[in-house]
Amino acid sequence: EKRARQAMQEAHQLVSKLYHYVLTETPYGVEAMKYLTKRGMSQQTLTEYQIGFAPDSWDFVTQFLKKRNFSQDLMVEAGLLAKSDAGKVFDRFRGRVMFPIHDSQGNVIGFGGRLLDNTKPKSQPKYLNSPESLLFNKSATLFNLHRARPHIRKRKQVLLFEGYVDVVSAWQAGFMQGVATLGTALTEQQARILRRNVDSVVLCYDGDAAGQEATSKAIHVLQQAGLVVRVAPLPQGTDPDDYIRQHGAEAFSQQVLLQAMPVTAFRLKHLRSQYVINDETDKTRLIAKAVEIINELDSPVERDLYQRQLAEEYSLTLGDLKWESKRAYKQQ
Ligand code: GTP
Ligand code: MN
Ligand code: MN
Ligand code: MN
Ligand code: MN
Repeated sequence: EKRARQAMQEAHQLVSKLYHYVLTETPYGVEAMKYLTKRGMSQQTLTEYQIGFAPDSWDFVTQFLKKRNFSQDLMVEAGLLAKSDAGKVFDRFRGRVMFPIHDSQGNVIGFGGRLLDNTKPKSQPKYLNSPESLLFNKSATLFNLHRARPHIRKRKQVLLFEGYVDVVSAWQAGFMQGVATLGTALTEQQARILRRNVDSVVLCYDGDAAGQEATSKAIHVLQQAGLVVRVAPLPQGTDPDDYIRQHGAEAFSQQVLLQAMPVTAFRLKHLRSQYVINDETDKTRLIAKAVEIINELDSPVERDLYQRQLAEEYSLTLGDLKWESKRAYKQQ
């Protein structure tokens, strides 16, 4: 098993260099290079992240690995190659921009591959990630952790993104304490890994319904691990990469990161966005829900602050709201 892991490891290292070479030094990479340049990625970023391109071929990597005597079955298991029902082995990643994924020591253990826009039929997934293997345990891996760790520790803060492009984009703009999950929900294990490095997390998920839902789930997992969480507000329909490209690093810092909200403020905002208020009954129900959220706070001072805000927002007396709050508390 150790031998198998070592071979998988070595193959990933070689193939990531190969993909990077194809992108930066060959005619096969020209179109992908144009795509990445259009997305605003600098040469330096491409080098730092060893971003590459998997040519649109069925046997480019297959041949490369065969010449170097790697076992085909092992390479299929590692997810660099794939096998058809008929038993034919072929390249798993074809015509995709390749982002190497590293373990915490900086070894390549997998890839995320993104389609170039409009070059494949819609039936293909936008992102294709390496499968789980001996080498690649998705639920215990965070994209970019090995690069971000010193910055996370120094700044006493980690930025958690949904997509690896967001991490890369933020890094290029000078925010180097960013990591991302790998296309799956944040796991307890990932939260514990973060906790070992830092106390405080800023969630920077996409500004859409999916991002909000993922944020709610991530908050729970992060708090369970003992982390203090704040939520950065992204405008509706944009993600951190979009935002940075449109508004720049300074705005991202001032308008997004520095505006990160405590969890209770986020939950109250989320609640408001979910309710359509037509009449007094709707309003009463919304206030009851808000009171529940506020009651979950341990600190009486914090509870008082949010109660005052809520009272003001809905033109209630603080006395009435506190009464409502006590009643809700007793009902639990
Ligand atoms: P761009 O469209 O390149 O800007 O990427 P994005 O990071 O904005 O993508 P999106 O917000 O759609 O998705 C966030 C993350 O979810 C990605 O980094 C992937 O890890 C994952 N993801 C998105 N689409 C797919 C998909 O089709 N298949 C899989 N397996 N994962 C996906
Ligand atoms: Mn999204
Ligand atoms: Mn996104
Ligand atoms: Mn994006
Ligand atoms: Mn805008």
